[in-house]
Amino acid sequence: MKQKLAGKFLVLDGPDGCGKSTQVRLLSEWIAEQDVDVVSYRDPGTTVVGEKIRDILLDPSHEGMGDNVEVLLYMAARAQVWKEHIGPDLKTGKCVLMDRWVSSTCAYQGWAGGFGIEKVLTIGADSLERLWPDVTIVLDVDLETARRRMQRDLDRMEQKGDAYHAKVREGFLRLADYHSDVKVVDATEGVEEVHQDVLKYIQEI
Ligand code: TMP
Repeated sequence: MKQKLAGKFLVLDGPDGCGKSTQVRLLSEWIAEQDVDVVSYRDPGTTVVGEKIRDILLDPSHEGMGDNVEVLLYMAARAQVWKEHIGPDLKTGKCVLMDRWVSSTCAYQGWAGGFGIEKVLTIGADSLERLWPDVTIVLDVDLETARRRMQRDLDRMEQKGDAYHAKVREGFLRLADYHSDVKVVDATEGVEEVHQDVLKYIQEI
């Protein structure tokens, strides 16, 4: 397992309220227990530039932002975290675990926002050194469960409403239909069950 995980690029993704951050933490701890040097980063964010872009994207006062602008900003933040962290880390054999990646832009802007998944992938291929990770695990959750888990002030993306977020979920599931490296886990279960399901896919690498 140690040899298989070294230098691998893994992504956990899914709709808001899917429990991704908890699962990133649990998976990262499990990988470290396999004696593998693992790092995890959030997208958008992590770098100074990326965190500033994140603030612009999530600020509820930026109401009129277009899906095309969102695509470019998410991609820019991603290019920076690749340059500063992911690229160098993979080269030294670390296992990189990302909290979101291009799959999010496909589901949110590409599908829910109507920008187009193919167009997102074209822009991604032109602006990133690597579009697809070794595996993307989508934590699938229904809208009602997700909303129940998000009892707090919502950011600009989370405020987009139920119709948009239903399409985000649909977008992630479509992506899994088309790409064999995108796996879906039922994230409505308890934390430990979801973690075990995530591990099943990781162990298949
Ligand atoms: P987070 O809260 O999971 O860190 O993600 C920030 C928000 O940005 C979340 O609502 C999902 C959204 N998002 C997109 O709309 N497109 C993207 O490409 C990414 C990475 C996130």
